[in-house]
Amino acid sequence: MVNFLIFGPPGSGKGTQSVKLAEKFNLLHLSTGDMLRAEIAAGTELGKKMSSIMSKGELVPDEVVIEMIAYKIDHSKGIAGFLFDGFPRTVAQTIALEKMLNDRKMKIDNMLVLDVDHDELVKRLVARAELSGRPDDKDPAVIENRIDVYKSKTEPIIAYCREKGIYQPVKGMGTIDDIFERLCGFMEKFV
Ligand code: AP5
Ligand code: MG
Repeated sequence: MVNFLIFGPPGSGKGTQSVKLAEKFNLLHLSTGDMLRAEIAAGTELGKKMSSIMSKGELVPDEVVIEMIAYKIDHSKGIAGFLFDGFPRTVAQTIALEKMLNDRKMKIDNMLVLDVDHDELVKRLVARAELSGRPDDKDPAVIENRIDVYKSKTEPIIAYCREKGIYQPVKGMGTIDDIFERLCGFMEKFV
């Protein structure tokens, strides 16, 4: 099994690229944001509790996403590995993920960090708001808060992973296809 983190601020293209990469490398794409939105859409108790946190652009509690990921890791078959998108988002989530993988004789093989200018992030999310129906895309102040939360709570994971020798910055500006080719170039070394 080979496991990748696709990392970067909101709007950096994690979801867009993950769909393509998962197909190419037979990886299971695990997006905690998508899982949480599915809970909201299904009207579950968990979804109801999480939706106000998400619409403000704050992070949901670590335990909630760690439990979701643990379930998926233990109930997935026939794949070459996992592609984690939007998880981990705190150092505590990173430590929990490492433990989950280590306990199952796996590890995080590489972390691909999409580097995108601030103005481009905002431009992409504002444009998506029209189509996505995501409440966290509708309000520019919430978009800015998501970027701030990324900087304060999520970005420290980079230093943590870099120490462990798993950090690969990737230019995230340009066309979707060009970025995909760049990511594939880095991932092919591991599969
Ligand atoms: P999540 O769903 O993870 O959202 P996010 O991090 O805010 O990121 P996005 O999904 O908005 O961006 P993306 O990087 O996937 O970009 P995309 O490919 O869509 O999280 C949502 C919320 O859930 C969080 O705020 C939090 O509340 C909660 N949550 C989730 N996980 C959590 C966790 N682990 N812990 C705690 N809380 C958690 O692209 C964006 C747009 O740009 C699209 O329209 C796309 O078509 C377009 N685009 C992509 N690439 C390009 C390109 N190259 N050129 C032009 N446009 C492009
Ligand atoms: Mg996404």
